[in-house]
Amino acid sequence: MNALPAHDRPALGLVDAAADPHLSGAFEPVVDEVELPGLTVIGELPVELNGMYVRNGPNPRFTPLGSYLYPIDGDGMVHRMQIADGTAAYSNRFVRTPAMDLEEQRGRALWPGIMSGGGLPDPADVGPDLAYVTRDIPDVNIVRHAGRILALAESANPFCLSPDVRTVGRELFDGAIPLGITAHPKIDPVTGEMFVFCYMEEPPYLTWSVLGPDGGVVRAPTPVSGVDTSFMIHDMALTSTAVVLFLAPLLIDVAAMMSGGSPLSWRPELGTRIAIIPRDGGAVRWVSDEAFWLWHTANAFDLDDGRLVVDYVQYDHPGMGLSTLPKTTSLIRATIDPGAGNVTRATVDEASIEFPRIDDRRMGQEHDWIAVAAETGRRELPHGTGDAIRWYRPSDGTMLQWTADDLLLGEPTFAARPGDPDPDHGWWMTFATEPNGSESWFLLVPAADPASGPVARVRIPVRVPLGLHGNWLPDEE
Ligand SMILES: [Fe+2]
Repeated sequence: MNALPAHDRPALGLVDAAADPHLSGAFEPVVDEVELPGLTVIGELPVELNGMYVRNGPNPRFTPLGSYLYPIDGDGMVHRMQIADGTAAYSNRFVRTPAMDLEEQRGRALWPGIMSGGGLPDPADVGPDLAYVTRDIPDVNIVRHAGRILALAESANPFCLSPDVRTVGRELFDGAIPLGITAHPKIDPVTGEMFVFCYMEEPPYLTWSVLGPDGGVVRAPTPVSGVDTSFMIHDMALTSTAVVLFLAPLLIDVAAMMSGGSPLSWRPELGTRIAIIPRDGGAVRWVSDEAFWLWHTANAFDLDDGRLVVDYVQYDHPGMGLSTLPKTTSLIRATIDPGAGNVTRATVDEASIEFPRIDDRRMGQEHDWIAVAAETGRRELPHGTGDAIRWYRPSDGTMLQWTADDLLLGEPTFAARPGDPDPDHGWWMTFATEPNGSESWFLLVPAADPASGPVARVRIPVRVPLGLHGNWLPDEE
């Protein structure tokens, strides 16, 4: 990979954060790491709910250099709400990477944003060890598997965190998955296995792997046959028999970025292809469809006749300045017939929604409700937020909604009642932020009657910037 010579690189200024909707207001990054015990609870936190809700998201440590592309640029910050015996405590910590450590030493951003055309820093900027190295951005998601808490990046090495979400270090899985994993692994609740994939700029371009319930790698990175270039793939789906990957035509060209161009190109003429990868390692089957983009799946499951169903949020294109066409968003139920090589799609709802989640105890099996962050249209909102939560039951078309007055919301996450398989006895939770970013809330909504809104609101007297993905980590696991 050749970088631009120093004298050819553009002089980059700092991004105007106040003018960027993902760096201001409820998205404005925070710098301070705080610990706030004994928070005020309005309503009541169930005494049987004990654990922590952790959520990751982009939170640039310093004002970005050259460009800022939400949700791909940033530094990771994990926000943690501990719930114990009806009490609540909040804390937050950066996910610390070598690049962030060096930037803190210098007191400024050193790595240009990926759309800046600035390439990668050379030895004069960052010294020999980090020169020409892509910085880690473990800011997308946080999961726990086999007792290991991982802050996850976009198809790269995750970072391992301690239970109090301090950074332990880069996770290489004992060298067995050296290039990293998706930010959206899927954990099979029946087998305890964690399924992952990784895309890369060079052959084989796309691999998948499996970690066993003890965290050991039971399938080393396995190339997905039939892939001849590098596609950006943000999420995946899992059924009891297959891994499903959507190859939307968003191509990656790091060489173009290194020479001052865009690393991403949208090529709708290529269509979107769906790979159905048997979990037993059998031959990959492909289904071709018209071009669409998706950030996130909700879930997938097998039908008795060999077809499979995937619920996901579909876009006409990925945005990010890559298309001038208007963009619509829909919750889609796709039924894929790998034998016939076709897919049929049904629109569950056409609305501005994101962050679809289910009760993860149903991952890979037929689910009941899908929760999403939704925009009511009462105000203009930046991408990646909502002012309502919607719940869909695709099996009968039911839709419920709770509208959050003036608060801005992120991803809803399910928490089960301990020892109780009934999803109606669980709760949905999320962080919510005041529009001006002055303070924040942790909201707990009963799954039995979600449209009635929170049964408990925890006031957080600092800004929890709107972010990406999180999970409830119960104490007893
Ligand atoms: Fe995501």
